[in-house]
Formats: sequence, C-alpha cells, structure tokens
Amino acid sequence: MTQTPLRILGLSGEYRATSKSGMMVNLALSYAESKGAEIMFWDCAEKPLPFVGEDGCWEHPNVKEFQALASSCDAFLICSPEYHGTMSGVMKNTFDWLYDKHVGGKVFGLMCTLGGMQNSNTLNHMRIMLRWLHAWPVPEQLAVGHVKEAFDDEGNLTDEDMQNRLHGLVNSVMETSSLFATQSE
Ligand SMILES: Cc1cc2nc3c(=O)[nH]c(=O)nc-3n(C[C@H](O)[C@H](O)[C@H](O)COP(=O)(O)O)c2cc1C
Repeated sequence: MTQTPLRILGLSGEYRATSKSGMMVNLALSYAESKGAEIMFWDCAEKPLPFVGEDGCWEHPNVKEFQALASSCDAFLICSPEYHGTMSGVMKNTFDWLYDKHVGGKVFGLMCTLGGMQNSNTLNHMRIMLRWLHAWPVPEQLAVGHVKEAFDDEGNLTDEDMQNRLHGLVNSVMETSSLFATQSE
C-alpha cells in the first residue's frame, strides 16, 4: 500500500530564501524531503503578503493563495529571526493571515536565528502564538545564536550537534504528523 506523503510548508520570518532564517527553513525542508515528505516554501519576496488591515488586503490574491496552501498542508517548519527579543514583524504578519481553520490541529517545528547569544524568547513567543491557532508545536526546537558564523560556504551548518538537532526536530514533526493522521483515520 502506498502512503500519501506528508505535505510540509516552510515559512521564514524574513523576505529572502537566502536570509539566514530562509536557509534554516530550507535545510529543514530538504531533510524532510529526503525522508519522503512533499515540501513547499512560501517566499515573501516572490509573493508578499500585505499587512493585515491594509485597504483591500482581505481580497489580495497572495493572501487567498497562501491560506489555501496552508490549509492543504499537514505540517509546518518555521524559522524567525529574533528582532528586539521576539519574532520579526514579517513572521507575525504571516501568522495574522492564518486561523484555526487553516492550521488548527497541525504540527509545527520551531526555529529561530539570532545575531547574538542563543536564547528561547522568540521560540517561546511563537509557541504562545500557535496556542491561539490551536496548533501543535513539537517539544524539540532550535535556536541558532551568532548566526553569521553558523554556516559554511555551501550553506550547511558547521556545528554537527546543531545539525543533529535540526534532524531531530524534523523527525519529530514528521512522526507526530503521521501519528495524528493515523488517529484521525
Ligand atoms: C531590527 C533588528 C533587531 C534585532 N534584534 C536582535 C535581538 O534582539 N537579539 C539578537 O540576538 N539579534 C538581533 N538582531 C539580529 C538578527 O537576529 C539576525 O540578524 C538575524 O537572526 C539574521 O537572520 P536573517 O538573515 O533571517 O534576518 C536584530 C536584527 C534586526 C534587524
């Protein structure tokens, strides 16, 4: 019997896929793909989401496409840069377009990047935000401090322990999503 692959959407709290947070999301997505997931990445540079509340924003085609894509996915891998001790405005605005009906009951893997020392503030704030959306962040999480030094020239993480933690996070997201899918059958 062939199993339908898990659909995983990557979201970054920065505009470019080449930003450090975009790189983290894409490393996580590549690993998920190697484990059999179908992966997608929403790039706000290619398809910007308007600010919630802007004139005409509710009918914006990017918003409708984004909400439909989120609804069609089983799980999410997300990374925000830490800005002034919390998630970026881009990340918060991205989530302000999502509701329980798009992401409720779905599994999330959380990551953040920091220019300074590693801490859990942004991860905790995203965890609280997801509670309001009735989503399920897994306990594993990743904060990449001193992010400018975190990658080699090929865009891979230099710290083997960090790399292993990234794989552990993705494995947990995929295993939890599969468990949820089995229970809802
Ligand atoms: C407005 C702003 C605020 C920032 N605040 C913090 C901070 O509170 N703590 C920290 O460690 N780094 C801070 N930084 C550095 C960013 O976290 C770092 O540049 C970012 O994680 C790099 O990822 P990116 O390429 O995805 O933006 C800040 C950067 C900006 C632009």
